[in-house]
Amino acid sequence: MSKPVLWLRCEKKEFERRSALTPTTAKKLIGAGFDIYVERDEQRIFDDAEFEAVGCKLVENNSWPSAPKDIPIIGLKELPESTDPLPHTHIQFAHCYKKQGGWSSVLARFHHGGGTLYDLEFLEDENRRRVAAFGFHAGFAGAAAGALALAAQQDGKKLGLLEPYENEEAMITHVKSTLGGSGKNVKALVIGALGRCGRGAVDLFRKIGLDENNILKWDLDETAKGGPFQEILEVDIFVNCIYLNSQIPSFITRDQILAAGKDRRLSVVVDVSCDTTNPFNPIPIYSINTTFSDPTVAVDVGPENPPLSVVSIDHLPTLLPREASEQFSSDLLPSLLQFPNRKSARVWTDAEKLFKEKLAEAVAAEGL
Ligand SMILES: NC(=O)c1ccc[n+]([C@@H]2O[C@H](COP(=O)([O-])OP(=O)(O)OC[C@H]3O[C@@H](n4cnc5c(N)ncnc54)[C@H](O)[C@@H]3O)[C@@H](O)[C@H]2O)c1
Repeated sequence: MSKPVLWLRCEKKEFERRSALTPTTAKKLIGAGFDIYVERDEQRIFDDAEFEAVGCKLVENNSWPSAPKDIPIIGLKELPESTDPLPHTHIQFAHCYKKQGGWSSVLARFHHGGGTLYDLEFLEDENRRRVAAFGFHAGFAGAAAGALALAAQQDGKKLGLLEPYENEEAMITHVKSTLGGSGKNVKALVIGALGRCGRGAVDLFRKIGLDENNILKWDLDETAKGGPFQEILEVDIFVNCIYLNSQIPSFITRDQILAAGKDRRLSVVVDVSCDTTNPFNPIPIYSINTTFSDPTVAVDVGPENPPLSVVSIDHLPTLLPREASEQFSSDLLPSLLQFPNRKSARVWTDAEKLFKEKLAEAVAAEGL
C-alpha cells in the first residue's frame, strides 16, 4: 500500500498567519508513516525551515493546483474566489454549508472538478462535538479587540491596525496598559459564555482585570426568553459567541439603539460568531466583516447619540497565531491519523456524507 500523503497549502487570506499543520503535528504524522508536502509560505507564523527540520518536503508557494489529483490538500481558510474546477480532496474551512454569501458557487467548483470537501468546521466526534476548533483563542482575541476598541472610542478615536501578538502575555499587557492599567471599570456581557469562544472571552476579561460581577455570562438559559435584550445596552462591551444553527429573535436591533438615545452605555459589539451574511444573524446592526487593518465598523446610531462600533473579524485567532495553530492542529491530529481510512473512519464518512448533501443543494441552487 502506498504511503499516506498530505499537502499543506499556503494561505491566501490577508493577515492569516495560522496553519492547519504545525511542525509539531507534521512531525507526528511523519512518525506515523505519512509523507508531508509543505508549500513555502512567508505569511505562515511557522518558518518553512521549521517544517523542513522535521522531515517535510517543501514545495513552491500556491503550487497545489498542479499537485497529483490523488494527494489531499490541507489548508485552513477559504480559497481565493474563482470559478476554477476543484478536482482534489480538500480539508479546510470553506464557510459554505450555512448558505453564507456565495456558498453555492464555492460548492459548484467541487461539482465541476469532481473533488471532495471535508470541512473542518463539521468534523465531529461521537458526541457531535467538533474535534477541533479555534474557538477559545477567537473569543480571547475578540474580547481583547473589543477592549482596545472601547479604549480608542473613549479617547474619541477609532481603533487602528491590529497586529498578531508574540504570545498571550504580550496581548494582555498591551490591552491593560491601553485601558490605563486595568479593565476594572469595564462591564461586559458574553452570550454563548459556556462555549469555546465564550470561555475564551471570559478568560481575557478576567485577565485584564474586570471584576467578576462585571462579566455577565449568558448562554441558552438566559436567552430562552427571546430577544431583543435591553441588558445588552447596559454594558460597555457585548461579545456574541453563540453557535447559530436556527432562526432566533434578534439579540439587539437598530430601533432599540435609536430608542435608547443618549442613555446607552453599550459602546462596542464584538461579533465573534460573525454570522454577518447569514440570513438569521441575530445582530442585524451591521453588514460587513471588519479586518485587522480596519477593525471596527460604526453603527448608524442617529444624530448626537454616543458612538457604537462593531468588531466583526472572522479570523480572530490569528492575533495569537502560534498558540492557536498548535492547539487546533493537535486537536485535529487524531482524526488526521485516521484519514488514510477515510472510507470507513466515522469522523470522515460523516463529513463526506454532509458534503454530498450540501453539494446536491448547491447543484440545485445553481441549476447545474
Ligand atoms: N470570528 C472568529 O474568528 C471565529 C473563530 C472561531 C469560531 N468562530 C465562530 O464562533 C461561533 C461559536 O463557536 P464555538 O466553538 O465557541 O461554539 P460552541 O458550540 O463551543 O459554543 C457555542 C455556545 O453558544 C451557546 N448558544 C447557542 N445558541 C445560543 C443562544 N441562542 N443563546 C445563548 N447561547 C447560545 C451554546 O449553548 C454554546 O455554549 C461559531 O459560529 C464559530 O464559527 C468565530
